[in-house]
Amino acid sequence: MSEATAVIDRYAVMGYPVAHSRSPVIHRLFAVQTGQNLQYELLEVAPDKLESAIKQFARTGGRGLNITLPHKSEVTRFVDDMSARASTAGAINTLVFKDKEIYGDNTDGVGLIRDLKENLEIELEGANILILGAGGSTRGILSPLLEEKPESVVIANRTMHKATALAQIFSAQGPVTAVSFKNVRTPPEFDLIINATSAGVKGETPPYPEHAVSEKTVCYDLSYSMRATPFASWAKKQGAAHSYMGWGMLVEQAAESFYLWRGVRPDTAAVLKQLSVNA
Ligand code: ATR
Repeated sequence: MSEATAVIDRYAVMGYPVAHSRSPVIHRLFAVQTGQNLQYELLEVAPDKLESAIKQFARTGGRGLNITLPHKSEVTRFVDDMSARASTAGAINTLVFKDKEIYGDNTDGVGLIRDLKENLEIELEGANILILGAGGSTRGILSPLLEEKPESVVIANRTMHKATALAQIFSAQGPVTAVSFKNVRTPPEFDLIINATSAGVKGETPPYPEHAVSEKTVCYDLSYSMRATPFASWAKKQGAAHSYMGWGMLVEQAAESFYLWRGVRPDTAAVLKQLSVNA
């Protein structure tokens, strides 16, 4: 087969909306860096078209997909099999098409842990951790965080019963409790505060618990933006030791997806630099 007619392995991200996604840039950089011949597209797919779009992509030479908002939980219905971590998270962000089967996985949790531990060198074992928010993002990171053996994980949420429900589900895996925003108590001082609300994305700044931030606290926003997110600015203002956005998690979860598809691990530090963000 000549170069011109050679079939290139197809990958894509599906979301709604999806125009803002950085995944194509990241995966193209990974492909160049590792010498992998592939193409990566951006596909806007409405919720009622998700199943047919996935099947059509698989039929037309697709090898794998990233699935992003709002489809991460819905897509669990369309797979033949999924990993334990996807099942625990109740969400899938990576699909692998192999032997006519669709396999689902979730690389968000491992992406966060790699960024915290390896890139940012944060000690999670024995840490006191506060998570703000009790939606799908919190559900996805609880199990991987508890695996790191923190001293405590407190979930604070505007709607208390959602935090309580998550704490109940995950309490068998470690020391996790629920509170409302206004009932967050110290001591112990929090070593790490993770913002897992979607408030910033909507341009809202909830009454985050100010006293929870000490000069030893590292704050981490799962959201990311070229400018500081509202939570990142808030954390700096409270005098946090460090205030990070989720660029590193974004690149690390992408690297894990790339590894699942291609069996090759890209150098994430180089790509983080190339994205030229202050991660
Ligand atoms: P995701 O999948 O991004 O986690 P989600 O499941 O809709 O999205 O959850 C969004 C989270 O952000 C919830 O914890 C939500 O709080 P409620 O459970 O009280 O709705 C939180 N959130 C969104 N906007 C918020 C705001 N303005 N103030 C406080 N919390 C907010």
